[in-house]
Amino acid sequence: MNETVRSVYFTNAEILDGIQRLHCQSGFECDLTYGNGAFWKGRETPKHCFDITPLSEGVLQASSCAVPLPDCCLSNCVFDPPFLTYVRQGREHNGKVAMTSRFGGYYRYEELIEHYTGTIKEAMRLLKPEGVLIFKCQDIIHNHKMHCTHVNVCNWASQEGFRLLDLFVLAAKSRMPGPQKGTQRHSRVFHSYFLVFQKPKKTK
Ligand SMILES: C[S@@+](CC[C@H](N)C(=O)[O-])C[C@H]1O[C@@H](n2cnc3c(N)ncnc32)[C@H](O)[C@@H]1O
Repeated sequence: MNETVRSVYFTNAEILDGIQRLHCQSGFECDLTYGNGAFWKGRETPKHCFDITPLSEGVLQASSCAVPLPDCCLSNCVFDPPFLTYVRQGREHNGKVAMTSRFGGYYRYEELIEHYTGTIKEAMRLLKPEGVLIFKCQDIIHNHKMHCTHVNVCNWASQEGFRLLDLFVLAAKSRMPGPQKGTQRHSRVFHSYFLVFQKPKKTK
């Protein structure tokens, strides 16, 4: 008998296995932010792979807000965008910090909002009715302010017409040391989310 899929795991792979079993049984079709393809080690690479800065052969250069695919053509798509702010030149993967050089980032939180909401809108266009958007995100502190990004993403997706289908938490056993100077005011974030949204059968 299959093991029960849980809401909390310590690896991307376990969460993707759970999402595949419950919501994407015929496999993942599209990765909008391929990066170095870490999600697909040991599993089938999606048919459509994009990134604003492709690092691998076969990955097409495209913004996740303007994907060169027709309307209603996908059963699912995966979106794992940068989540850090105060990153200069992050999009070019040349931030000085290891984390930002691999993942990229934004300078202001408003840029993150623009990218995330633009992609949610684009996913609504690309997905078939009942298609699924898998959105990885993390809460952050920016300029001493807590941004509960996963709640914001749920609200933005709901405003666009998506329904929250499932939620997974990726817990980290350890993290790179943060740039802690002086008194600590907020807990260090040791988890991120995989939010699973579904496009309704009928859109307005
Ligand atoms: C968190 S990382 C990659 C994650 C990937 N799943 C991995 O593990 O390698 C975010 C990726 O988003 C890409 N990216 C940033 N802005 C983008 C945009 N507007 N459109 C598409 N990709 C973008 C970056 O180039 C980076 O490769």
